[in-house]
Amino acid sequence: MKNYTSVKDIPSIEKALETAFEVKKNPFGFQHLGKNKTMVMVFFNSSLRTRLSTQKATMNLGMNTMVMNVNGDSWQLESEMGVVMDGDKPEHLLEAIPVIGRYCDVIGVRAFARFESREDDYSEKIINQFVNYAGVPVVSMEGATRHPLQSYADLVTIEEYKKVEKPKVVLSWAPHPRALPQAVANSFVEWMRETDYDLVVTHPEGYELAPEFMGDVKVEYDQKKAFEGADFIYAKNWSSYSEYGKVLSKDISWTVTEEKMALTNNAKFMHCLPVRRNVVVSDGVIDSPNSIVIDQAANREVTAQAVLKMILEG
Ligand code: CP
Repeated sequence: MKNYTSVKDIPSIEKALETAFEVKKNPFGFQHLGKNKTMVMVFFNSSLRTRLSTQKATMNLGMNTMVMNVNGDSWQLESEMGVVMDGDKPEHLLEAIPVIGRYCDVIGVRAFARFESREDDYSEKIINQFVNYAGVPVVSMEGATRHPLQSYADLVTIEEYKKVEKPKVVLSWAPHPRALPQAVANSFVEWMRETDYDLVVTHPEGYELAPEFMGDVKVEYDQKKAFEGADFIYAKNWSSYSEYGKVLSKDISWTVTEEKMALTNNAKFMHCLPVRRNVVVSDGVIDSPNSIVIDQAANREVTAQAVLKMILEG
């Protein structure tokens, strides 16, 4: 595998699951692959899980890691082409990316949607500049439109907990006070479409995801109806795609509650974290035995390591 920016980069879902379970069973068994190799992790945005799980994954593989927080410890980086650089950004990505590439064997980059332009965000302007100019493999640690490390961990978690071959998996929009990107939701749908699960997406009108991610996935605007018989409830907020980046609703009747979970087939509750308690999900649901959010986050280490293993193996 050369780069990892979406589900399209993995050889197959079967190979991804096989590698994840291989790594989970034997986390320190592949250190020959990472010996004397270095990963630089570049963060344009904050992180807890992605940063720690990916760094731990590199350590398991015997790699060295360097972390750079753009906006914190580096020069401010310009990403626009052809601009007169007389503002507050003294270095361009056109130099910064290949220079970083000379210091390492793999680059991880996190660059969220900026909500200045849907076209810019959906062209993955930053991640694609890394892919084009790094000279080494690039791993998306969440781009403007996808979070493939998260989705891979979500898939592994569902495989570990599913009780039927083709579970009903519901992605439910939930309220949030701020405008969040569509990346986790887009990516989750993109990965689930590669499986034969029964996927349903539920959200208020106006929160339709981009058609290129949704394809013919079923949308159910009645959240309670969507929850009926579900085996997994995956809650997530996202801002509007059609009215790009806008918060159209903060309706707390969409919060995931015990009452709604009672409509399901004793469903497991999932969320990528961080989560706002009693806004996105009630304490009663996230603290219940059916909540698997901690195992889901723990699988981030496993799948980050699986991705790096596949890259190091070429
Ligand atoms: N889920 C996730 O990516 O968490 P962080 O933003 O903390 O990395």
